[in-house]
Amino acid sequence: MDILMESGIPVASSCGGQAVCTKCLVKVIEGKENLSPETPDEADMRDIHEWSRDERLSCQCTVQGDIKIDASYW
Ligand code: FES
Repeated sequence: MDILMESGIPVASSCGGQAVCTKCLVKVIEGKENLSPETPDEADMRDIHEWSRDERLSCQCTVQGDIKIDASYW
């Protein structure tokens, strides 16, 4: 989420990155291996909302290489 915002790309959020609002959810198109593992909070939200493994909370992951993502509101 920080990298997106620093790049001028809007990221929806109302919890300030606390893994609560789920508004920052993005779909990973390519490079999911280049994202950090899920945090416990992110895993909890995945269980509740039944997201696919290609969807990540951008506030909960760090980028370690090239990725391609999309969001429903872009
Ligand atoms: S900013 Fe709220 S869950 Fe990511």
